Amino acid sequence: MRVLGIETSCDETGVAIYDSEAGLLADALYSQVAVHAEYGGVVPELASRDHVRKLLPMIRQVLPDADCKQEDIDGIAYTAGPGLVGALMVGGAVGRSLAYAWGIPALGVHHMEGHLLAPMLEDQPPGFPFVALLVSGGHTQLVSVAGIGDYQILGESLDDAAGEAFDKVAKMLDLDYPGGPRIARLAEQGDDRRFKFPRPMTDRPGLDFSFSGLKTFTMNTIATYKGGDVLPDDQTMADIACAFQNAVVDTLVLKCRRALKQTELKVLVIAGGVSANVLLREKLTSALNELDAQVFYARNEFCTDNGAMIAYAGCQRLLAGHSDDLSIRAQPRWPMDELSPL
Ligand code: KG4
Ligand code: ZN
Repeated sequence: MRVLGIETSCDETGVAIYDSEAGLLADALYSQVAVHAEYGGVVPELASRDHVRKLLPMIRQVLPDADCKQEDIDGIAYTAGPGLVGALMVGGAVGRSLAYAWGIPALGVHHMEGHLLAPMLEDQPPGFPFVALLVSGGHTQLVSVAGIGDYQILGESLDDAAGEAFDKVAKMLDLDYPGGPRIARLAEQGDDRRFKFPRPMTDRPGLDFSFSGLKTFTMNTIATYKGGDVLPDDQTMADIACAFQNAVVDTLVLKCRRALKQTELKVLVIAGGVSANVLLREKLTSALNELDAQVFYARNEFCTDNGAMIAYAGCQRLLAGHSDDLSIRAQPRWPMDELSPL
């Protein structure tokens, strides 16, 4: 089965074609980062308008890239949520309408299920069951995954998502959006002994997270070294970025270890934009070694939003006979444990 995947939940337009036999055939990504840069975050209306401009030309591009014609496509999967409602409507309207015109099934895919399954696109995919750490701009969740669609949420953030905390701290340090990669780069120059930031909610049992206190702690530290409106010196900024990144990563690692112990599972999957973080990958690899467990993640471009993960997740569900009726789906909020197992 050949599936056209469409991702438009936030500020990336992603289009890909996945073949259940041959694997990923083509994938195109357009990032709107430049569109939103001057606003310091994603402006929903501008995101929708840009998806409208980019989506059809990108679909026209991936078909020949995959050596396909429209009649070779057996189904269309688009992100139906969670995400920005206007942005979701663009992908949903285009995907649902094309499938209607082409006489093939369409399916609305859960964005976080897409992230969660993205490591399946790699040469050595993880096997079920596993624990997944989903860390994106909107979500921080630990999930016990028995199979596709069979999810049990073990813990989640009570306030900011990990990626959101990276983005907000980046803004405090006058770094561009998205903040995660920028903080990581700045932290490379930092001295990790200078500041010790709190590891939130690690001293009590459970698998929930909270990053808003850490964000405030970081803001207060920056304020201590500010001169009026003038930011701290370069080395202090790097030391703060380093301390912040260490605190987030250590917190995530501790909870992953706890989740693996609790579930007695030996496989951890990390997915979503923050799973591209090199320090997180390194610290998890060594922490899991001690537990005789293994960590899996997608290549960098499939950690952040992309069409390939939607094509893959949609293909698995379409193969199992799932498909939607003619209405266009857009669910800005959509708890992942409401999904049906395959
Ligand atoms: O999964 P994603 O592309 O979009 C959402 O579904 O939210 O994740 C984007 C988030 C942003 O908050 C971004 O700052 C963060 O992932 N991110 C990173 C890194 N790369 C992206 N955070 C930390 N380190 C990175 N290398
Ligand atoms: Zn995402």
